Amino acid sequence: MKKIKMLYEGKGKKLYSTEETSVLIAEFKDDLTAFNAQKKGKEIGKGELNCKISSFLFELLEKNGISTHYIQRLDEQNILCKEVKIIPIEVVARNVATGSLSKRLGIKEGSVLPFCLVEFYYKDDALGDPLINDEHCRILGITNSQEELEFLKSQAKKINLILKDFFDSKDLKLIDFKLEFGKDTKGNIILADEVSPDSCRFWDKNTNEKLDKDRFRQDLGDVKFAYEEVLRRIIT
Ligand code: TMP
Repeated sequence: MKKIKMLYEGKGKKLYSTEETSVLIAEFKDDLTAFNAQKKGKEIGKGELNCKISSFLFELLEKNGISTHYIQRLDEQNILCKEVKIIPIEVVARNVATGSLSKRLGIKEGSVLPFCLVEFYYKDDALGDPLINDEHCRILGITNSQEELEFLKSQAKKINLILKDFFDSKDLKLIDFKLEFGKDTKGNIILADEVSPDSCRFWDKNTNEKLDKDRFRQDLGDVKFAYEEVLRRIIT
């Protein structure tokens, strides 16, 4: 399968059309951004690591009954995926307080939440991806169906159970993560985008060392080492 035309360039990936209708190639970029791209960087090899980690995790989720856009990995930096119309909601699931949750509500970083908290953020860079609730989604015209919103929440919780157990077996704590869903050509809602250290937070189970994009966000250094360590643990 070959790239025909670039359809979209996001902060972490480029999407290309292929010879086949509704089948795209996603190329994982080495670019790193944070705080709505106010902070920018590049880490050679990061695209490759995210491509491999995401591919592995999409395969794991598919094996556990989650429908995703993933078809197969093509090479080091590219995957084949189904074309979807992205639902403009960033679905965040959290097990442990940190990041914007701690900042917004004053919950101490590292506090284990009593249950998996699912939040919606409006995917709009100009507005800085604000936190929204179900009624905002309906007013914004994202969906008129409460059932669709409930489906997104239940998928996020299911995905959390699958990933949390898996990462626990690799001595990693799954702190929180962001998912994006889209509608395929038949109108089915499937998981899209990526599942990687760019979109998840992982802490070492024993030391709480951060092994994700927070190393870039917080200038902790060793960004690539952290992503390599996540890949090493998940494949061994
Ligand atoms: P937050 O604590 O900054 O709201 O982040 C929650 C989770 O979502 C965390 O795993 C990082 C991820 N995330 C993204 O993937 N993209 C984003 O733009 C933001 C703000 C967070």
